[in-house]
Amino acid sequence: MKKLDYFFRPKSIAIVGASRNPKKIGHVMLRNLIEGKFQGRVYPINPKTDRMFDLPCYPSILKVPGRIDLAVISVPAPMVPRVLDECGRKRVPAVIIISGGFAEVGNTELEHDCLKIIKKYKMRCIGPNCIGIFDPYSEVDTFFLPRYKLERPKEGSIAFISQSGALGSVVLDWMAMKGYKISKFISYGNAVDVDEADLTEYLAQDPATRVICCYFEGLKQGRKFFNTLKRVSRKKPVIILKGGTTQEGVHAVSSHTGSLAGSKQVHSAAFDQAGAIQAQSLEELFDFARVLASQPIPRGNRVQIITDGGGFGVLTTDWVIENRLTLAHMNKKILTTLKRTFPPHVVLKNPLDLTGDADVERYRLAIDAAVQDPNIDMIAVVTLFQIPTLTADITDVVSAASDRSDKPLIVIAAGGRFTEVLKKTLEDSGVPTFSYPERAAQSLRALYEFGQERKRK
Ligand code: ACO
Repeated sequence: MKKLDYFFRPKSIAIVGASRNPKKIGHVMLRNLIEGKFQGRVYPINPKTDRMFDLPCYPSILKVPGRIDLAVISVPAPMVPRVLDECGRKRVPAVIIISGGFAEVGNTELEHDCLKIIKKYKMRCIGPNCIGIFDPYSEVDTFFLPRYKLERPKEGSIAFISQSGALGSVVLDWMAMKGYKISKFISYGNAVDVDEADLTEYLAQDPATRVICCYFEGLKQGRKFFNTLKRVSRKKPVIILKGGTTQEGVHAVSSHTGSLAGSKQVHSAAFDQAGAIQAQSLEELFDFARVLASQPIPRGNRVQIITDGGGFGVLTTDWVIENRLTLAHMNKKILTTLKRTFPPHVVLKNPLDLTGDADVERYRLAIDAAVQDPNIDMIAVVTLFQIPTLTADITDVVSAASDRSDKPLIVIAAGGRFTEVLKKTLEDSGVPTFSYPERAAQSLRALYEFGQERKRK
């Protein structure tokens, strides 16, 4: 087993600082692990009690009878070096320090002391000042956010590394609500030992991960990360969102994770050179990730739009062109067949407008034609679910077509509650959905450009 595997697939976890107080962080972490589906052993550590949640509680990690693969530390910062030393003596291979109060508040010496102990015992450490890991496959969950307040996403193929714990965790809650899925989430905080480069390298080898998303503010070892990025982005897409790009943002960064934000232009040029995909917002990060994780690389940039609403067709056209993609010209034979089948008011152009009385069958025929047509590289299906003739089984037709298709297929559907329910069904079956054409077109562009970049390498 590699050292970092102990973070994601431990057989046993100790919570050091498992408080008896239900409002305290160590207590909630223990509760989350017990209430989740983690299959391994859980050891609460607290010198003030000998039982927690019906489990034996130990005064120190040294008193635990069994082996510990992962220790999660939630005691005040000044106590952390002693606990780390005990972890080392117990031969714990992986440690997560949740506690704050280190470099982010100017306490670099304490962080240094911790690093010395980590190195002495050859442990690997995530944190301090982080919320750690959520892995939906192994159900390792070191969050101190109660499950009833923060939903966890289901198993998927998007990994998310975040320097900021709060940002990462609330995004996870939002992803779970939308039906977006993940392979792993890691908040790594001040990165005293394990940093973004180590995690990116690890995720590149992770069979469950198809796309790596990264939010960070400053890099401690820029060159190490860029070299990793160069290697990994040849294999898997790496999408980056960098915080602290304004003068004021740079100041905010130093008191958040104690790191230096650096120049926006320098970072951006280096990411480009290393083959990373840059996102400008959190929504864009996950738009790109969902498309890259679920869709095949297109052969070219010709997009066919299929719609039941003229206005959405026009806007989608504009955004396709704005994003340096082109409109496909359907094969003549295929068009002739469709003309014979469809009523005369269907507009057989691009956008192909099935009009306001489109039904599921009309969509099925149009999408199947686009899937087969060699003149088309990508398919953007606009489904305004609100029209009376369109029944909810449209989601079955679209996801079946997407399964058959060797071309990217995405759905644009704007609307309220009814629409959101159907979109979640589509997301569940692996079809990326968007509310607005601009975000859909930007994501198709990111997919196309990733394919072009890969061809060049
Ligand atoms: N080993 C194990 N347990 C111990 C030890 C020890 N050596 N010594 C004390 N404990 C117990 C305590 O007795 C207590 O249990 P009790 O409540 O049953 O008595 C428990 O450990 C916790 O210790 P406290 O002193 O009560 O510490 P508290 O829980 O108040 O705070 C914490 C600890 C949460 C780590 C705090 O110092 C801290 O760092 N807070 C900030 C955390 C944070 O925000 N991290 C970054 C997250 S990232 C983000 O952006 C959100």
